[in-house]
Amino acid sequence: MITNSMTNKIFEIINGHTFHLHNQRISYVLTIMENGQLGHLYYGKSLGALSVADIAYLKTQNSKSAGTVKYSPDTGNFTLADRAQEYPVYGSSDFRRGAIDVSCNQEPWYLDFKFADYSITSDKPRNLETPESYAIGNEEATQLNMRLVDDQHQLELTEHFTIFDNQSVVVRSTTVKNCTNKPVNIENMMSAVLELPDDKFQMINLSGAWLKERHVKFHNLEQGTVAVESLKGASGHQHNPFIALVRSQDLNQGEVYASNLVYSGNFISQVEVNEWHKTRLMSGLNPTYFGWKLDVNESFKTPEAVMYYSDHGINGLMDVAAGFTKKHVIDRRWRQRDRPIVFNNWEATYYDFDEQKLLKLARQAKRIGMECFVVDDGWFGQRNTDRSSLGDWRVDPRKFPNGIAAFSKKIHAMGLQMGLWFEPEMVSPDTSLYQEHPDWVVRHPYKCVSIGRGQYVLDFANPEVVESVYQQIKPVILAAELDYMKWDMNRNITEAYSPYLTRHNIPQTEFFHRYAQGVNRLYQLILTDFPDMLIEGCAGGGGRFDLGTLFYCPQIWPSDDSDAVERLSILTGTALAYPLSSFSNHVSAAPNDQVGRQTSLDFRQMVADFGPLGYELDISKLPLDELEQIKENIAFYRRHRQLFVNGRFRQLQSIDPQSNEVTWSVENTDKTEFFVGFYRKLATPNSGVLNYVKLPMVDPNLTYQIDGQEKVSGAVLQHLGLRQPYQFNGANRDTAELYGDFQAHLFHIVSVE
Ligand code: DGJ
Repeated sequence: MITNSMTNKIFEIINGHTFHLHNQRISYVLTIMENGQLGHLYYGKSLGALSVADIAYLKTQNSKSAGTVKYSPDTGNFTLADRAQEYPVYGSSDFRRGAIDVSCNQEPWYLDFKFADYSITSDKPRNLETPESYAIGNEEATQLNMRLVDDQHQLELTEHFTIFDNQSVVVRSTTVKNCTNKPVNIENMMSAVLELPDDKFQMINLSGAWLKERHVKFHNLEQGTVAVESLKGASGHQHNPFIALVRSQDLNQGEVYASNLVYSGNFISQVEVNEWHKTRLMSGLNPTYFGWKLDVNESFKTPEAVMYYSDHGINGLMDVAAGFTKKHVIDRRWRQRDRPIVFNNWEATYYDFDEQKLLKLARQAKRIGMECFVVDDGWFGQRNTDRSSLGDWRVDPRKFPNGIAAFSKKIHAMGLQMGLWFEPEMVSPDTSLYQEHPDWVVRHPYKCVSIGRGQYVLDFANPEVVESVYQQIKPVILAAELDYMKWDMNRNITEAYSPYLTRHNIPQTEFFHRYAQGVNRLYQLILTDFPDMLIEGCAGGGGRFDLGTLFYCPQIWPSDDSDAVERLSILTGTALAYPLSSFSNHVSAAPNDQVGRQTSLDFRQMVADFGPLGYELDISKLPLDELEQIKENIAFYRRHRQLFVNGRFRQLQSIDPQSNEVTWSVENTDKTEFFVGFYRKLATPNSGVLNYVKLPMVDPNLTYQIDGQEKVSGAVLQHLGLRQPYQFNGANRDTAELYGDFQAHLFHIVSVE
C-alpha cells in the first residue's frame, strides 16, 4: 500500500491497482480492472484507510458476471456489461451509451483505453480563460490524473479526479490526445460518469420555462434513460445541467448524489438504469450537433463536472453545493464584499427615460438607502424599443445630452455605485455593425434566418468579433467608471453556422463549443482589465444560470418573473444547486408586471431579502408610507446582509413548487442567529390556528429569543418547532396574524443567555 497524505486529502494506492481518494467527508475508489481499463468501486461517505481485504470486498460488487457477451476470449467470464466503470465506451461488451465516441474517416472506432500511468498534482489556479473549479495554494486540492492508452488507435485519455479539502465533492474532467498520424473526430465526450450499484433513487432536475425557471421536478427511476439537455447554445430556461439522485424526499436525511457542469453551452445530463437496476449518471457536452476534429498531436479537454455527495438529505446537498461554489467556483473575494443594494430602472421606466428622470430616481434611491444605480437597457444607439441598436454601444445623446461619463459622475457624486446593461453577443439589423459585417452574424448561407426579439446572434466563434465587441464596450466602462455591469442575452442560437469556421476549414460541428469559448474570452478580457467590477449574469432572466456563468459573475438575475410568489418556487429550485449569494432578488411593483398579481410590499420584501437585494419599481411615484417601509427594510437588510447573502440556507417544509407553504431559513456558522422566512401563498379555510415547523438546525443546548420576545430552548424549537403566525380560521378575525392570501412572516431568532 502506498499512502500519500497531503494535509487532509489522502491519496492511497492499494496493491498497485486500486486508488483511493478521500478527505474528512468522502471516499472515491477506482481500480484497474482485469482488462486494464478503469473500473469504479465506490463513491460516498469517507471509508477511512482501506485494507487489501476491504478492496477485495468492494470488488465483489462486480464479480458475478451477468452479461452474455464477454469482453474477449482471453479474459474468461469478464464482461463490461455489468462493470461499474469510470469512463465506459460503447462497442464492446457493454451496450449502454458510452462516455466517448471517436471516428476516423467516417469509421467508428471501438475504443479500449488501458491504464498506462498516473500523476498527482496539487495546483489548480483560477484561470480566466476557462471556467473551472480552482484552489488557492497547494493545500486545498489534490488531483489524480490517470493516463490511459488505446494502443491500437493511438489515442491517449487522461481522466482527472480532483478532491478538495473538507468538501463532499469530486470534480472530474477528461482530456483526449491524438497520437496517430491522421486527424480523428470526437463525436461525443462526456465530462463525467458516476456508476451507482442500485436504482433506489428519485431523480431531481431543475426545469421550467421563461418566467418560471428551475422548478423542482421529481422522476422515479425505472429501467431506461431520463435526460435533460439543451441545444440552445446556452444552458437555457427549460433545463439546467444540475441533476440530483435522492434516496428520499427527506430534507435532512438520506443519501444524495448530484452532478453539475462548469459550463454554459449545450449540455446533456442523463441517468440510465439497466436491466440489473444499476444506475449510470453521465453529464457533459451535448453530443448532438457536436463534433471536434483532433489533428495530429492535438488534445481536447472536456468541461468539468462536479459530483456532489451528501448523507444529510436535500439540505445537506444544498450546503455542499453552495459551500463548494462559493469557495471553488465563484471568485472568492466576493464572499467578503458586500453585494450592493441595487436600484434597477427596467421595470420602473422600461425604455421611457432621460437623464433627468433617472437622476430623480437616483436621488430617491439614495435617500432611502440603495447603493448602486443600474441603467438597464435603452441607454445606447437609438434604443427606444427592443428592436434596435444592439451592437452600437454608444450612448444615446437624446437621453444623455452630456454623455455617459457626466451622468455617471453625478451618480457617483450622490454616493451611489454606477451600473450599465449590455447585451454583448447580439446585433440589431439597424446598426452599422450589422451593415458593415454581415459575416459576423451566426447564420447559414443558404437558409432563411430565424430572428428573435428582432436581433441576431454575433458569431462569437470568431475571435475577431469578440475582440471588436470588447473594443466598443471598454471605453464605456472606462468613461462611466462602472462598478457593475449586467450582461444579458435575450435570444438563443438558430441555424448555427459560423462563416469564420468555414473560412478556416474548421468543422461547423465545433461551432457551439467555440461560441461558448468566445463568451468566456469576452469575460476574460473584461475581468482582466476590470477585476473589481461586479458582473451580473442574465439571459432573458434565468436562461444561463449555471456554474460556467458563476465562474465569472458572482450573481445572476434568476428570472424575468419578479413576482414574489413565483420567486418562492424559483429560489427553492435554484438553491438546490447554487448559493443564495448568486440569486439576485428585486422588489418590484404590485400588481406585478409579469403575472398581474397583487401582493403586499411586506410580502415582496420578505421574499427578496434572501440573497443580494435590489428594487425595480418606480420609486418616484410610491406613497410616502411605502417609501418609509422600503427605507426601513433596507436599513434592516444592511444590518443583516452577511447572513442573508452568505448564511447557510435551508428548506424547512417542502421543496415541491406546488406546496402552499414555503419555510426557509438562513443561519450563521455558530448557530446563534437565524432568520426564518415563512410564506403562505393562498389562504386555506380553517386549517388550524396553531401550526409548528421544526427547526433541525438549532443547538438544543442554547436558549433562543424569537423576534425579541419569547425565550425558548433549542430543544423545544427542534422537537416541537417554531410556532407559525396564528392563522385565520373564519372566526378569529381579531387575533389572527395570517389573514388572506400571500402572507409572510420573517422570524429573527437569536441565542440568549
Ligand atoms: C431581459 C432581462 O432579464 C431584464 O431584466 C432586462 O434586463 C431586459 N432584458 C432588458 O431588455
